[in-house]
Amino acid sequence: MTSELETRYNESSPIVRVEGLVKSYDGGKTRAVDGVSFEVKQGEIFGFLGPNGAGKSTTINMLTTLLPPTSGMAEVCGLDVHKHANEVRRSVGVVPQDYTADEDMTGFENILLCADLYGLPRSDSTRHAQELLQLVELQDAAKRKVSTFSGGMRRRLELACGLINYPRLLFLDEPTLGLDVQTRAAVWKYIRQLKKDYNMTLFLTTHYLEEADSLCDRIAIIDHGHIVKIGTPEELKATVGGDVIVVGVKESEPDLSADIAKIGLVTAVTKTGNDYRIKADAGEEASPAIIDLIRSKGMHVTKISLTRPTLDEAYLELTGRTLREEETNRWATMSARRTMRTARS
Ligand SMILES: Nc1ncnc2c1ncn2[C@@H]1O[C@H](COP(=O)(O)OP(=O)(O)O)[C@@H](O)[C@H]1O
Ligand SMILES: [Mg+2]
Repeated sequence: MTSELETRYNESSPIVRVEGLVKSYDGGKTRAVDGVSFEVKQGEIFGFLGPNGAGKSTTINMLTTLLPPTSGMAEVCGLDVHKHANEVRRSVGVVPQDYTADEDMTGFENILLCADLYGLPRSDSTRHAQELLQLVELQDAAKRKVSTFSGGMRRRLELACGLINYPRLLFLDEPTLGLDVQTRAAVWKYIRQLKKDYNMTLFLTTHYLEEADSLCDRIAIIDHGHIVKIGTPEELKATVGGDVIVVGVKESEPDLSADIAKIGLVTAVTKTGNDYRIKADAGEEASPAIIDLIRSKGMHVTKISLTRPTLDEAYLELTGRTLREEETNRWATMSARRTMRTARS
């Protein structure tokens, strides 16, 4: 980086800054990305969660300089993606949605090819390749042609290629699309390891709710090219309206609903038979106060349960749909199917 660029970027700056980013096709008829704004903090795992055709890949492709934006601003590592495309490309790693490895070459040769594209000296690239193959647990298979690899092995090889320059920021487009449960768990493990051991920032896209929930520090829900909401998984779940506490009481009278409703954090109370169904913002803090209140009236608690809202419910509340509903977007569905076919081969 030149000193002029360095002065504009320091350790506390967001590593990605996007404002009003747009990508349109067909002379503006299709707005694949329709004015998104967000920031990614250094060292976090940031996720774009949305269905096929939401605009996830298009956004990643603009941030990694593969696609020119139609309008808006995007900075990566303090660098404008349009004005400083070469520097941006050197500072980041990318694992694209589609599989790109050459099947006629071995795993090791594929990684060296990636290293050549980054202009790494051979002495470095051989060492990096060996380290990375170890990270993704492919050291034994590395001398085989990629055509003999399973889908899961290919995905892991793509991950190693994306890491060849040990980037500060790694983009992963649908890193586990179509993978079996075991390989998915392995990919999650590598992603967590990269954050922990290298303090790497990870920007990933997914349409798996449980993946976003389990991996991401913050999630942006994207739908039809728009960001619907950004927050931690907990913040997104909180939009559903808090936890639900069900308390059973031995005595059906008197009705304590009004007293329970006065407890801080409690937002709603309904009584059915001997059961109180209570909505609260922080269930684990509200529960003891509820029990104390019931006991102070000389009554007896027979059962208590606490249910947390799930990210599925939050998604439904925010978008009006479930993520599992079949998408009719042909273009994006075909592209996702292609990736899944390779993953399963
Ligand atoms: N080259 C293209 N030409 C026309 N439309 C495109 C092109 N690439 C993407 N799109 C459209 O842009 C939208 C977003 O696609 P994409 O970013 O691939 O979605 P996602 O990655 O979230 O599944 C979709 O409606 C898709 O049909
Ligand atoms: Mg995509």
